[in-house]
Amino acid sequence: MKILKKQKTDSAIADKAFLFNYIQQQVAGTEEAMQRDLDAGLAGNDPFLQEVLQYALLQGGKRLRPVLAILSSRLCGRDGDELYLLAGTFEYLHAGSLIHDDVIDHANNRRGKESVVKKYGMAAAILAGDWLHARCMHLIGTLTGQAGLDIVCKATQAMVDGEFLQLRYTANPTVTEEQYLAVVQRKTALLMSATCEIGALYGGADPVEQKALASYGEKTGIAFQIVDDLLDYLGDERRIGKVVGNDFIEGKMTLPLIHALAQSRDADKADLLRALQGTPRDNAGCALARQLMHATESFAFSRQRAVQEIEEGLAALSCFSKEQHPESLAILEQLARYILSRDH
Ligand code: IPE
Ligand code: IPE
Ligand code: MG
Ligand code: MG
Repeated sequence: MKILKKQKTDSAIADKAFLFNYIQQQVAGTEEAMQRDLDAGLAGNDPFLQEVLQYALLQGGKRLRPVLAILSSRLCGRDGDELYLLAGTFEYLHAGSLIHDDVIDHANNRRGKESVVKKYGMAAAILAGDWLHARCMHLIGTLTGQAGLDIVCKATQAMVDGEFLQLRYTANPTVTEEQYLAVVQRKTALLMSATCEIGALYGGADPVEQKALASYGEKTGIAFQIVDDLLDYLGDERRIGKVVGNDFIEGKMTLPLIHALAQSRDADKADLLRALQGTPRDNAGCALARQLMHATESFAFSRQRAVQEIEEGLAALSCFSKEQHPESLAILEQLARYILSRDH
């Protein structure tokens, strides 16, 4: 795997093709490292487990978290082939969480194909997710010691708490924007924060740099989930590889729904509440929600909130010098902006 060693000029970095190639190289390096690790870690294990993990891990996915880990480490001055293995550990944790999340959300589709639970059943989904969580912890402990383990375990515990909180809020129209943000921070943003922070730790960051990258990851993670929640109403199923409208069917109190409930006229709000609280919730109810979200500009409102988080995330990187780290810094900036424009 080739690693880009030379720092490029600003205009070369701003070039879309450069960014695309850079990301592709990191994704390829991470996938090779994961495959090698799976071959070693699964040698002699049950072939069905091997099949499920291969299916869950190595077909699709944007690999955003590995790329963030790699960039964070490079920004703090450390590179090398082992970095791809560290990057892969975050994909393990993420993929394991998605396998479990699809059980919780009754989701049949993921990454453009059947979810693990749909294809292989509940027992395989639970166990494969457990394996990935355990392997992630083992590798992070090996590569970054107790300090890295503390960070990743805290984030994983928060993720569980966030999913519990989200279930508690199901179809509850009194949920506030603040409560929604607390869910998002725990279930999604703290893992992205941990990814960047552990990348920094591995890279030899000082405490200020480590905190800055943790903050960048948290803010961009919040924006990432807000955009995911927008795509759940507005996305193209073929692009996002998941069923559009599932959040409404599951009664998830996401930002556009909270805003639409608060801003709709009384009669519309009553209709929306009926659709949200009637069982089973259906696609007609989701279509009504979408229509009211347009009417109340709830999509624009949510997007604005994501923009604000991205700006704050970028501001957190101000302690890094552009002269010293032009390449990693510029790509982290572009990735943050990509989060706002992504369609999958
Ligand atoms: C999906 O994450 C789950 C969320 C936190 C919103 P991604 O959108 O990064 O999923 P993949 O890895 O690309 O499939
Ligand atoms: C993120 O939430 C899931 C995790 C934290 C694991 P979602 O439930 O919105 O993610 P998708 O839409 O299923 O990918
Ligand atoms: Mg889900
Ligand atoms: Mg979602």
